[in-house]
Amino acid sequence: MDRLANKRILLGITGSIAAYKAGEVVRRLRDAGAEVRVVMTRGGTEFVTPMTFQALSGQPVHLHLLDADAEAGMGHIELAHWADAILVAPASADFIARLVLGRADDLLSAVCLASRVPLVLAPAMNSGMWHNPATQANIRTLQSRGVLILGPDEGKQACGEVGAGRLLATEPLLAGLSEVFGRGLLTGKTVLVTAGPTREAIDPVRYLSNHSSGKMGFSIAEAAVEAGARVILVAGPVTLPTPDHLQRLDVVSAGEMFDTVMAHIQGVDIFIATAAVADYRPLRVTENKIKKKAERMVIELEPTPDILSEIKARYPGLFCVGFAAETSDLETYARDKLQRKGIDMIAANWVGPAAIETEGAFGSDTNALRLFWPDGEAELTVAAKPKLARQLIGHIVQCYQNRPPRSKHTDTKVVSLPDVKRTPGS
Ligand SMILES: Cc1cc2nc3c(=O)[nH]c(=O)nc-3n(C[C@H](O)[C@H](O)[C@H](O)COP(=O)(O)O)c2cc1C
Repeated sequence: MDRLANKRILLGITGSIAAYKAGEVVRRLRDAGAEVRVVMTRGGTEFVTPMTFQALSGQPVHLHLLDADAEAGMGHIELAHWADAILVAPASADFIARLVLGRADDLLSAVCLASRVPLVLAPAMNSGMWHNPATQANIRTLQSRGVLILGPDEGKQACGEVGAGRLLATEPLLAGLSEVFGRGLLTGKTVLVTAGPTREAIDPVRYLSNHSSGKMGFSIAEAAVEAGARVILVAGPVTLPTPDHLQRLDVVSAGEMFDTVMAHIQGVDIFIATAAVADYRPLRVTENKIKKKAERMVIELEPTPDILSEIKARYPGLFCVGFAAETSDLETYARDKLQRKGIDMIAANWVGPAAIETEGAFGSDTNALRLFWPDGEAELTVAAKPKLARQLIGHIVQCYQNRPPRSKHTDTKVVSLPDVKRTPGS
């Protein structure tokens, strides 16, 4: 259930006799570390009071679509964007039918229609309603659209009948929900992620570096773990805790990062270079601390190894994703880097004063990305970095799966480059 920690779960409660069981679902979600917001249909409020869920979730319960006050606060579109996943438990037969039709005349239906995050339904109804061909056809339609259906259980029902239709018990329900955060899109794949800044020594106490916090790279590594990948995270000097279930290798300089990536790249399927690697380093590192003597001082710099270009040149079939942090002409620079390095995708974001609009900057908890690949592009709007990372992994998986078969890394021989060309920028 680790996967539910820090996730934002929007819980929909509809008009089923099993609605009273949703209280336990809220409690257990919060125990698992999830943040919960509840949306109830009018039917749902006939069975349990919003007050119960307000107390259990610690948040106001959302009830109405056409409510000016709600729309001024967290309206239906904001709720749709807020969530990492939507769980409707219990999901009534009528609500399921409304989803199939794409209705949006109540808050919960509208949120489900507007949202792009995983949708999970736990149907609960009389077994006759469940087995009805209309309901069964509706369930198949939703499954074909990627909706995850959990349950129902079999057993004695509130109406006295015995059969299928009971709300799935809370434990398997949450286990099933947590699966959407690691749906196995990258099961069996190895992903290597670089993150954070590098430090280039000037003398034993001074260095050149940048403001990268490593948060985006760590979130991407976590999202790749969630998607089922074996993940190697090569981290520059950052103060972030190590995410679960991955191999972390700490480095300091661009040279160390280059060597570590090279030493672990064999067998990797996807390489995601988020690290803000120094482009230049001091040509000479003095043995002792430089003393303040002259009015002016010149430090001569040389280019660091270009990790991404080097990797792509040696392993042409390896799926490589680069990052571009720009202060101007974002698209132009990003597309140029994509082409120049011959990589498969580039994720570009604003940094510095230009980042204020997108609320993204080194060290911030949010960001926005523009993705470019040779025959497409996508825009990921401002979101918390973990959420953005999951969206990015989704796009990477799609492009990785759609790449031409001949470029598959496993089919590709290592190209030996006897003379390593060192160019600035990675
Ligand atoms: C006592 C009672 C119990 C009900 N239990 C269920 C149920 O368990 N599942 C279901 O799908 N519908 C059940 N219904 C019917 C729904 O409440 C009804 O279809 C309602 O319109 C659903 O509204 P909603 O989907 O907007 O919440 C029940 C109705 C009553 C009167």
